[in-house]
Amino acid sequence: MIRIAHISDTHITGESAYKGYAYDLIVNDVNRGNFDFVIHTGDVTNQGLREEYERASYELKKIQKPLVVIPGNHDVRNVGYTLFEKFIGPLNGVYEFKDGVVIWVDSTIPDLSDGRIGGHKFRWLKAKLEEYSDRKFKIVASHHHLVPLPDTGRERNVLYNAGDVLDLLLRHEVNLYTCGHKHVPNVYRVEDLVVDNAGCTSCRKTRKGDVNSYNVITLHDDGRVEVRIRRVTGDELRKEHQPIKPKIFVPTGKRLLRIVQMSESNISDRIYFRRKILENVVRTINEKLKPDLVIHNGDVVDMGIERYYERAYEFYERIKAPKLVVPGHNDITYLGYDLFLEYFGEPEIIETRGFTFIPVISAQYETPIGVVGRIGQRKLAERLEDYRESFTVVVLHHNIVPIPRSREVGFLEDAGDVLRTLTAGEANLVLTGHGGNSFGVKVEKTPIVNAGAVSWELHRNPFGNSFNLIEVYRDMVVVFEVQATWGSGRLLGIWKIKGPFSP
Ligand SMILES: [Fe+2]
Ligand SMILES: [Fe+2]
Repeated sequence: MIRIAHISDTHITGESAYKGYAYDLIVNDVNRGNFDFVIHTGDVTNQGLREEYERASYELKKIQKPLVVIPGNHDVRNVGYTLFEKFIGPLNGVYEFKDGVVIWVDSTIPDLSDGRIGGHKFRWLKAKLEEYSDRKFKIVASHHHLVPLPDTGRERNVLYNAGDVLDLLLRHEVNLYTCGHKHVPNVYRVEDLVVDNAGCTSCRKTRKGDVNSYNVITLHDDGRVEVRIRRVTGDELRKEHQPIKPKIFVPTGKRLLRIVQMSESNISDRIYFRRKILENVVRTINEKLKPDLVIHNGDVVDMGIERYYERAYEFYERIKAPKLVVPGHNDITYLGYDLFLEYFGEPEIIETRGFTFIPVISAQYETPIGVVGRIGQRKLAERLEDYRESFTVVVLHHNIVPIPRSREVGFLEDAGDVLRTLTAGEANLVLTGHGGNSFGVKVEKTPIVNAGAVSWELHRNPFGNSFNLIEVYRDMVVVFEVQATWGSGRLLGIWKIKGPFSP
């Protein structure tokens, strides 16, 4: 068993101003506790100034355990990264412990609050993950968050390449990602990866009037990863993740539903719209796949003008299966929102064979940034509660988890709160379609699947234009990605789901 104290965001200021009551409280707790080592995930100082680093190196010496310290965006202000190396230690590195390793990587960008593990650092991280692939416990530690967090206001400063990093960590079977930055303690399970955010240890800038806290991580010998969020008030929140045992999945019973999910057809007369591919897809859907439902996750047209909507309508009228279309940001440019309603109608809840499809509109006028809003989130939570007995599928345009190969700038401005609404409400499946690439991960109990671009040449998918074929069984969701030109398929994800529900 390995026990780790995870502290973060101490924001130590210069000697005169700094009052580290919470810091001393937590450090005493850490020193008394039976910890093997301590991880500090950055923002050690407040402005990266010399006097702050001098104070910080004194304060950090109070910790009587081996200590791994990662730089945060505040530490690199005023070219503080040179002082970080001088007063604290290397910006990137590896700490080995019994059965495991912590690989820490500097995600800061000088003078910005945003994060990035780009270029050389990404390759370095990949090389280290390969080097230590035999370790039972692989921990990656960085300052910036990887998946959107609740209660942080506007979603921003997630790693620019969060999708690539998430993909990398999942491929290398990393057990734990630890970070700080947003001053909100949170623990999510993403597939087999535990994403552990520390709150802030000694900064006054907490959210929602919260108090200072740190996280206690326990790595059990049987592979379980346990995280306790320990607040200075003494209350504790505990989460435990049992690792997924690799085994061959065989679905129980007959297939209950087959869904075709597509996005970004971007019908237009621009050269990037690949008309023949979309025609091919419509034919394949009608003649071969014969799904129970076709979902289009938005950006049906490239611009919200009548001529494009007319053509889009012609295309989708040809699909024989029932359809659910939610608007994307392209659809509601210009007069698009009115046209969308005229041609496709207000997206409505569809109930069929024990499934409930809940559309959510996230697109706004003239911006790729989406929002669900606090009222929208509350309505969504109510619907998930109302339809708890059925298999709930939430359908919206904007991606909620970061997508590989795209620059993540918080495309859904309240992604953190929406993600909490979905996971807390135990949505059975979430379908999104922004970012031009396909990706699927299960967060907590909810598989979240993003569709790539079906017929738009400007995409980010090495597999090409594609759509998803989703098959639901009583205890399993299987998602195949179908290449839109050749019809070849590949497995995008296979997830055990909580059954049985009564179809
Ligand atoms: Fe911070
Ligand atoms: Fe930060």
